[in-house]
Amino acid sequence: MRLKDKVGIVTGGSSGIGREICLKFAEEGAKVVNADVRKEPREGGEPVTELIRNNGGDAIYIETDVTKKESVKQLVNRAIEEFGKIDILVNNAGVYYPKPLHESSEDDWDKIIDVNLKGTYNCNKQMIKHMLDKDIEGKIVNIASIASIVGWENSPAYCASKGGVLALTRELALDYAKKGININAISPGVIKTQMTKAFREDEEMHNYMKQSTPYKRLGEPKDIAHAALYLASEESNFVNGANLVVDGGWTTQ
Ligand SMILES: NC(=O)c1ccc[n+]([C@@H]2O[C@H](COP(=O)([O-])OP(=O)(O)OC[C@H]3O[C@@H](n4cnc5c(N)ncnc54)[C@H](O)[C@@H]3O)[C@@H](O)[C@H]2O)c1
Repeated sequence: MRLKDKVGIVTGGSSGIGREICLKFAEEGAKVVNADVRKEPREGGEPVTELIRNNGGDAIYIETDVTKKESVKQLVNRAIEEFGKIDILVNNAGVYYPKPLHESSEDDWDKIIDVNLKGTYNCNKQMIKHMLDKDIEGKIVNIASIASIVGWENSPAYCASKGGVLALTRELALDYAKKGININAISPGVIKTQMTKAFREDEEMHNYMKQSTPYKRLGEPKDIAHAALYLASEESNFVNGANLVVDGGWTTQ
């Protein structure tokens, strides 16, 4: 078991990539906290923390809005009350609303930057404070995107937010390496989740995305969960400030 005796928070764990990361971490022995603004939905099977507990694992859901500092503070306090400490944080909560810049409002911009970038800032900050307080050589994984490396049409705020996540990851990795905290990013390509449902339902777009991927397929949430497991485990102890691109080769072209 690669995460035995570890406690991990996954933001946005109620669906898609986050849900799969929760399941993978639990399978590897971690106690898991799903921190999502959305209660765990019942459609498509058991809610994730219930599923983990039914399989003999340990997991709780804590309603959290990553855009709100007080909500994130409460998340950290409640997770510590429940499990005593936190070793791992995966900043996965994210939103995507496509619109070209000239048609989008300031509100459109704020909504995306608030969740994707400010949410990542809020969670890193509270978690790093806890790790420093308790001398925990912890692991933080920030979910960026290939949109942080290459342009993605009609997504100005999304690209800016994810570029910011990468830059923040590199900076924090430098500051906290001396404390033994690893901070890395993952940049997923196109993954089959709710976020990409509209794209995938458009046949032309779906084919374009498959053809644009050298493996000629889209990614599965578990492709990202495996990468998150590596970055959360001791196997990545000498990896810091890295961006692990999991995109089937999209950005190598
Ligand atoms: N699916 C992809 O192709 C893809 C590609 C690159 C990056 N990503 C990134 O991966 C992450 C997960 O995306 P996904 O595809 O699983 O999407 P998803 O929509 O299935 O899941 C996102 C989760 O984040 C939660 N969330 C949204 N706002 C929140 C808030 N304010 N506080 C707490 N939780 C909040 C949602 O409730 C949801 O459960 C996101 O950061 C996304 O930008 C996804």
